[in-house]
Amino acid sequence: MGTLAVDGGKPVVRLEEIKQWPVIDERDKAAVMRVLESDYICGGDAPEATALEKEWREYVGRQFCLTTNSGTAALHMALAALGIGPGDEVLVPAYTFLASASCVLHANAIPVFVDIDRRTYTMEPSQIEAKISERTRAIIPVHLHGLSADMDEILKIARKHDLFVVEDACQAHGAEFKGKKVGTFGDLAAFSLNSSKNLCAGEGGLLVMDNHDYYMRASMLRMFGDEIDDETKLRVYNASILGYMYRNQELPAAFTRAQLQRLDEYNNARIKNCNYLTEHLSGIKGVHVPYIPDHYKHVYWMYIIEFYPEELGLSISPEEFRVGMEKALFAEGVQVGQWQTMPVPAQDLFQTKKGISSSGFPWNYTDRGRAIVYRGEDYPNSTDLCRRYTTVNGFQPPNGIDLMKKYVAAFEKVFANIDIVLKHKNDNLPSHFSGRLFRAK
Ligand SMILES: Cc1ncc(COP(=O)(O)O)c(C=O)c1O
Repeated sequence: MGTLAVDGGKPVVRLEEIKQWPVIDERDKAAVMRVLESDYICGGDAPEATALEKEWREYVGRQFCLTTNSGTAALHMALAALGIGPGDEVLVPAYTFLASASCVLHANAIPVFVDIDRRTYTMEPSQIEAKISERTRAIIPVHLHGLSADMDEILKIARKHDLFVVEDACQAHGAEFKGKKVGTFGDLAAFSLNSSKNLCAGEGGLLVMDNHDYYMRASMLRMFGDEIDDETKLRVYNASILGYMYRNQELPAAFTRAQLQRLDEYNNARIKNCNYLTEHLSGIKGVHVPYIPDHYKHVYWMYIIEFYPEELGLSISPEEFRVGMEKALFAEGVQVGQWQTMPVPAQDLFQTKKGISSSGFPWNYTDRGRAIVYRGEDYPNSTDLCRRYTTVNGFQPPNGIDLMKKYVAAFEKVFANIDIVLKHKNDNLPSHFSGRLFRAK
């Protein structure tokens, strides 16, 4: 096995062996060139954007799709299309990316957080009802890391309390819950096309729905609140509602269409790599691998593991153990490192409640909003996860099983030398993936 890299030995993996996502090939270049050689490089109804909307609604299985310039824009448009506004409350999981909650503030409403299920990391249905008030209008379940939230339970609660459901599917293109694709469960569903995502454009988003009224309202919200004349199909330049500038563009739309052709193939490659990691890392004492309930299809936007030093009989805090392990694994070439470091309600935005332009709005609009206090420790499952988890990057295609074998070898090497890892745990060493790898040529 050799000497640990943190102790002066040779790393198991060289950085050059790990390739960067997304895979960009001749098909993507041809799609982008098609735009540059066409008459359109922008426009809400331009050909590539329109074709992407058709292809995505068909892929997901919904009536309508609008492409946007980000997933955050798609989420905000969804809430605004539902008429959610000042004084309203929206339930959001406490562990997610900020935008799942900040979109609620963009709609001038108040996010109310619900802790996560400790095993799936998605919103814990049994904790939802305690958070519902007379002001609650919607639930935003997040399909986290590529795994669906428990949509049976969430929809049951939403129906019982007459709440809208907006799926945050920004991390879960192609994921399934009981044989149905995510994005088909809520009143509306938002996807991100950010470059890290399973389906990507560089930046961009997609919003899907079946209701024609929501579609019409969201279309106006996407383009300055402006209406299109029914007969001429031209803009009338008379804003009838407050809208935004959330249009996508032709270059990213064409790139996304080329990527969409290979989404299932790439998702399968992710699943194969992650299943290999799970199979081999699950045998290592002190490591917990992702849990996937029966009848869920996880598409692994992200692969995370958790560290449990207590299972090794070590009297060291999970954080200290995790950071020591991250340093040792990183030195071996494994691209570990944390993504979210705290529950969303623990972030300064929610601690200070300064709100829009530091006015305290939207919280100061209602007594309930003024009274709300966000505390990270009120979400013990989210807090505990943040102490223990690390992401393992590099499982994305074009990387394959050869690299996964090296990753497993690195884990085995590190776990066989825990005493040496702990000797170096306070060394000033990098422990975090930079987000940049080498592009496959
Ligand atoms: C769960 C979740 N929601 C929303 C977003 C926002 O998407 P975008 O970055 O495209 O605005 C992201 C992006 O990372 C996300 O992970």
